[in-house]
Formats: sequence, structure tokens, C-alpha cells
Amino acid sequence: MTTTRDDNQMPSSEIALEVRDLHKSFDGKKVHQGVSFRLRKGEILGLFGGSGSGKSVILRSIIGLEKPDRGQILFESQDLTRLKERELMKVRTKIAYVFQNGALFDSFTVEDNLAYPLREHTQLTEKQIHDRVNEMLELIDMKGANLLLPAELSGGMQKRAGLARAIILEPQVILFDEPTAGLDPVNTKRLLENISKLKKKGITGIFVTHDIPAAFEIADRIAILYNGKIAIMDTVESIRNSTDPLVQMFVSGGHITE
Ligand SMILES: Nc1ncnc2c1ncn2[C@@H]1O[C@H](COP(=O)(O)OP(=O)(O)OP(=O)(O)O)[C@@H](O)[C@H]1O
Ligand SMILES: [Mg+2]
Repeated sequence: MTTTRDDNQMPSSEIALEVRDLHKSFDGKKVHQGVSFRLRKGEILGLFGGSGSGKSVILRSIIGLEKPDRGQILFESQDLTRLKERELMKVRTKIAYVFQNGALFDSFTVEDNLAYPLREHTQLTEKQIHDRVNEMLELIDMKGANLLLPAELSGGMQKRAGLARAIILEPQVILFDEPTAGLDPVNTKRLLENISKLKKKGITGIFVTHDIPAAFEIADRIAILYNGKIAIMDTVESIRNSTDPLVQMFVSGGHITE
């Protein structure tokens, strides 16, 4: 199986995050059996893998919601798998996780949802918070939605609001778990445009998805998780043109079971 040609030569100053030899089993079922990859600063890595292959568990492990049985996750010279909850809270201001459904607080308005991380983690005044919330709402094309409740938003708006809340602290790395799942083409396009804007600002991200065209549009490289490992990792262009049967199976949308 191929891996990225230049990955081993990547200078450490270019690495945003490194996952090293993760192993994880649930109830005796091996999910990760040596997952390793490096995320380059400023890139978006599309992560493909069959349903149940362990993509979400990778993201959850990175922000410390899951403890690997073995292996390391290196970020800013720390091994995230060894951190205590207090230290992980700090890491979560730098590495954001965008949940599939937006995970908004139902009883909070959009404004209060977005303001929440700022109130928790910064010393900003209410005026500064309000201005920042408005800036974010503009970015996600939801200007004026401040006082709406999540139930009053469409699915696409909920996802974009979830994205805004995840990035309001200006994290360095964003983990997207199937951000376009369940969205219609118009909302998918909007969300991808939002992510493109972030990319231009230099954000680094992992984009877990079954939406191959979306990943090809937004990602720089693609990794394929198969049999508990990153079986293939290469540029979007190489993946598009690959004749490897495994790549073709994923890219053609064939149903993959493990
Ligand atoms: N907390 C948990 N307890 C027990 N099993 C779990 C837990 N979390 C994940 N698993 C199992 O680990 C495997 C990988 O789960 P994961 O959610 O990472 O898959 P996935 O690749 O994200 O799939 P999908 O594309 O369907 O979202 C699955 O078999 C799942 O049932
Ligand atoms: Mg998942």
C-alpha cells in the first residue's frame, strides 16, 4: 500500500499535528490497529473510511474524548493522550471539533450559543463579544439571526452556527465530522464556501466525510482508513487519478464494509 511520498521528509516546523501508531479496541473489537499520519500546517486532510472504520474515534481521540489503548497524538510538543481534563480544556480552545449536527444548546439563542466559548475562555466585554458574534454571523451568511433559537433554524443553518461556535476562539486546527451529511446541495455549497474562507485564513483541518466530491473540492490531501490503519494518503490529484483498487472502491462510492 502507498503512503504519501514526501511525508517522512516533512520538517517538524511544518507539522500541525501528528498521530502515531494509535491502537483502540472496544469490547475486544479492534478498531484502530496502528493509525499514523501527519497533518501539515495550513492543509485540509480529507479522511475517508467505511462506516464503523473508526474515523470519528480518531477525531474524538485527538480532543481527548476517547483514550487510545496505545499510541501518541503530538501537538505543540505535547502528547495529547496523556493530558488531564484541565489541560485538555485548554487544547480544545486550539483544536475545535465540529459535531455533525451542530450540537447547539437548544435553549440558548444563536447569539448566546456563539458567545458561550468567548464568555467561558476570554476576558472580552459584552460589547466585544456581541461584535465578534456579529462578525461570525456575517462569515456564515446568517447576519441578523442573533435572537433565533436552534429549533427555528434549518438544518443547514444549525450546522453553520455549530461551525461558527467551534471556530469563534480562532482555533489552529478544526476537526469536521461529516459536516455536509444531510445537507441539500445549496447548503452543502454554502458550508464548503465557509470552510474555504477559513482555509484562506490559514486554518488546518481534518474533514471526515462520505461526500467524495466535497472532499475533493476542499481538501489538499486524502487519507483512507482501512482495516484499522491509514492505508493510503496522498494529494487529491493523485487520489483522483489513482488506479489502486482500494482508492477506486472509495472514490466510485462503492459500499465499503469492514
Ligand atoms: N464509546 C464507544 N463504545 C463502544 N464502541 C464504540 C464507541 N465508539 C465507537 N465505537 C465503535 O467503534 C467503531 C468505530 O466507530 P466510529 O464512530 O469511529 O466509526 P466511523 O468511521 O466514524 O463510522 P461512520 O462513518 O458511520 O460515522 C464502531 O464499530 C463503533 O461501534
Ligand atoms: Mg463517524
